[in-house]
Amino acid sequence: MQQAEMVQRENWRTRFGFIMAAAGSAIGLGNIWRFPYLTGEHGGSAFIIIYLMCVIFVGLSIMIGEFAVGRKSGLAAVGAYKAHDRRWSFAGALGVLSGFFIMGFYPVVGGWSLAYMVKSVTGLLAVPEAVGDYFGAFVTSSVEPLIWMLIYLAINVYIVARGVQAGIETAGKILMPSLFVLLVILIIRSVTLPGATEGLKFLFAPDWSKVTGSTFLAALGQAFFSLSLGMGCMITYGSYLSKKENIPSNALTVVTMDTTAALLAAVAIFPALFSFGMEPAQGPGLVFVVVPTIFAQMGGVLGMIFSVFFFAVLTIAALTSSVSLLEVVVAYLIDEQKVERRKATILASTVMAIMCVLSSLSMGLLSGVTLFGVGFFDFFDILTDKIFLAIGGMFLAIFVGWFMDKEELRSELTNDGTVSFGFFELWYNLMKYFIPLAILAVAVMGITAIEQTSLMLFGLFIILAMMVFSKKL
Ligand code: PFF
Repeated sequence: MQQAEMVQRENWRTRFGFIMAAAGSAIGLGNIWRFPYLTGEHGGSAFIIIYLMCVIFVGLSIMIGEFAVGRKSGLAAVGAYKAHDRRWSFAGALGVLSGFFIMGFYPVVGGWSLAYMVKSVTGLLAVPEAVGDYFGAFVTSSVEPLIWMLIYLAINVYIVARGVQAGIETAGKILMPSLFVLLVILIIRSVTLPGATEGLKFLFAPDWSKVTGSTFLAALGQAFFSLSLGMGCMITYGSYLSKKENIPSNALTVVTMDTTAALLAAVAIFPALFSFGMEPAQGPGLVFVVVPTIFAQMGGVLGMIFSVFFFAVLTIAALTSSVSLLEVVVAYLIDEQKVERRKATILASTVMAIMCVLSSLSMGLLSGVTLFGVGFFDFFDILTDKIFLAIGGMFLAIFVGWFMDKEELRSELTNDGTVSFGFFELWYNLMKYFIPLAILAVAVMGITAIEQTSLMLFGLFIILAMMVFSKKL
């Protein structure tokens, strides 16, 4: 009875609006900040090829599955699982926890981006050679990054507290296209720098010697992170989707846009990086060092304007993603715990702010404090990206493949037979057999290859605990 009341949901205003919102959630720091630095750390194109495999054979199917589960139930993460089978609430709950943890570090990086937008005008670009050192000094300082993080988080709170639709749908429609235009401008600059071909080689001539079990885990985790999968975000967005929409073709559009954005970011960054003689394995600082250096070299007002614009767009790309993360937690508190929206937003973001303070300080003041061998920033990042999201995706695939009715899925994905989905059988078999096994194999291979074994075991322990205690949710 309670479900019947909740099924009456608001739908996205237009298909374009939905695609922009879903793409807005998918395209974020994961594409422009994380994808390039992971590519740098894992040997370039070999990583990209493995990543693309993960997107094509796992990510796309999971996205179709999440949209279908969301639209069919008309409920957010926990509710969607629970409506079908109570014992499965834990899978939704794991998603909510992942959203929480990602928000334990994402706003820190969002804050860096916001800061860099302003700093582009106030002297960051004055000496191109000093940009790298500046970044190191900035992120390890105790107070300044915290202020930017709090401003960034406050914007999230403002948007989510008011309800997402108008703001995010509109922002996505204007800003996503701007992001693509800017990336193309950056690429043109980057590939025409002297020595740029080295960077293109790095991106397109695979070096398989760098590939280990942990490379596969990194690629799979990144596919989930970048596509906003494995934590019920796309279930939630699918729950607002009109019954008339063609789920597989919409999913394909979102996946294509997200992948294109990541590849464009890599092509914008690596040629310039090699041209400036920098190290590809720079870690999280990569985009914050290479991009401003390019603009600083460009010089003058034009360089400054491009830099401001780039970080503005990056900040907004990040915002449309972090708002969706916060929304997953808030929607859970509203739907399942009956907390009022504004209160839920404040409650969730306060805890997130505390986690972010710890993450930010773990770069400097608290660098000696570790949990399972890593600092707070890495703790939240590695737990979600290397384990929770992929396992969450595995649960979704098992749920869809083994616990839902095949014919009901067929009619959900073909809108009761009115649109065709020629790959239905392939999709269904991927979900039922291939994806659960592939994720399991990659997880086992990765967890044994990775350095942070105790953290991984802790993650598995949390998942088990959720399975046991989820009945209370
Ligand atoms: N996809 C976002 C990015 O690439 O930055 C991050 C993200 C958003 C992950 C929403 C998960 C999620 F549910």
